[in-house]
Amino acid sequence: MAFTIEGVPPQTGKVVIITGASSGIGLEAARVLAKKGAHVIMACRNLGKSQPLADEINSECAETGGKATLVRLDTTDLDSIDSFSNELQAASITQLDVLLLNAGIMMVQWATRPSRSELHPEIESQMSCNVVGHFYLVQKMLPLIRSTPGARVITVSSLAADQTNPTDSINYDVFLAKTPEEYSKMNSYCESKLSCLLLAHELDRRFKQANIDAFAISAHPGYSRTSLQPRSDSFLFKIFLYATLPFSMKAEGGGLVLSMAATADRSEIPPNPYFTPGGFQGLSGAPIANGKMCAHARDDAQAFKLWETCEELCAVTSDI
Ligand SMILES: NC(=O)c1ccc[n+]([C@@H]2O[C@H](COP(=O)([O-])OP(=O)(O)OC[C@H]3O[C@@H](n4cnc5c(N)ncnc54)[C@H](OP(=O)(O)O)[C@@H]3O)[C@@H](O)[C@H]2O)c1
Repeated sequence: MAFTIEGVPPQTGKVVIITGASSGIGLEAARVLAKKGAHVIMACRNLGKSQPLADEINSECAETGGKATLVRLDTTDLDSIDSFSNELQAASITQLDVLLLNAGIMMVQWATRPSRSELHPEIESQMSCNVVGHFYLVQKMLPLIRSTPGARVITVSSLAADQTNPTDSINYDVFLAKTPEEYSKMNSYCESKLSCLLLAHELDRRFKQANIDAFAISAHPGYSRTSLQPRSDSFLFKIFLYATLPFSMKAEGGGLVLSMAATADRSEIPPNPYFTPGGFQGLSGAPIANGKMCAHARDDAQAFKLWETCEELCAVTSDI
């Protein structure tokens, strides 16, 4: 039977963090989960834009006991992630059932964001936003994850991950911002989305190794019409989007994929899950839990290297 909004189980008592909940599929997932009774912490970079959205969700879910709280977080700014963590502590948040790492940018012009590494002081912006900031957020949230039995971390990937090279999948020269001349906005986006899968793979392995009752999984929303696509200035990509428009779906569809990943009963999650739309080529349709993932997204050596690189860039030694 197809998974629907009505099928989302009650989430009363659950605490969910969603990065990038001010737009698109993150906003839709926030709406669904709060309406089902969860306390959704919307981790957004622009408070002025996001507050009316949080207010709207709160007015919609008053009866269910759910609520939305807005806390500022910019995934490209590690200091803001520290502040976010401090704010949660000050608000006496003591559990974290779902950490939904959703914020993302796609195919943008070459730009860099600062790291905390002396060796590699700059990070290419898509890698910074989509991957490194989320890695750092996971490190900051580990105490809450440890104290919440069955906590889950979800990374949001893309069909774009399939376009990476299976044998040399991450171009670390671009990732570490050494070579702007070599930059391809398309390749970098694809690499960042492969990295989201590798990050979940490595995190899940570490949870198991450290005997932590938590797990990491991934999802992708197919082709959901959001503000992501209009923000890209790649002409070729715009043609591709136009050609595949008939197979796309509303943002609600992608939000539902995330909602299923966030709420599916653990006992019903298959081995090697990947939550994706179930329709043609995974572009749209009702969500499924066993979408097709490229094999190199489960490459142990790549996942380990990515983890170590993120540690270096964030100047942290992970305690799992
Ligand atoms: N839509 C699709 O078809 C599709 C397909 C595959 C994967 N995805 C993935 O789905 C995720 C959500 O994208 P979407 O389609 O919902 O796009 P969207 O409507 O553009 O939403 C992106 C969200 O990320 C936030 N964001 C961007 N940079 C940020 C930063 N530095 N710090 C914090 N938040 C930041 C945006 O905040 P502002 O509102 O402040 O800009 C917005 O809330 C992304 O990871 C994307 O790669 C989407």
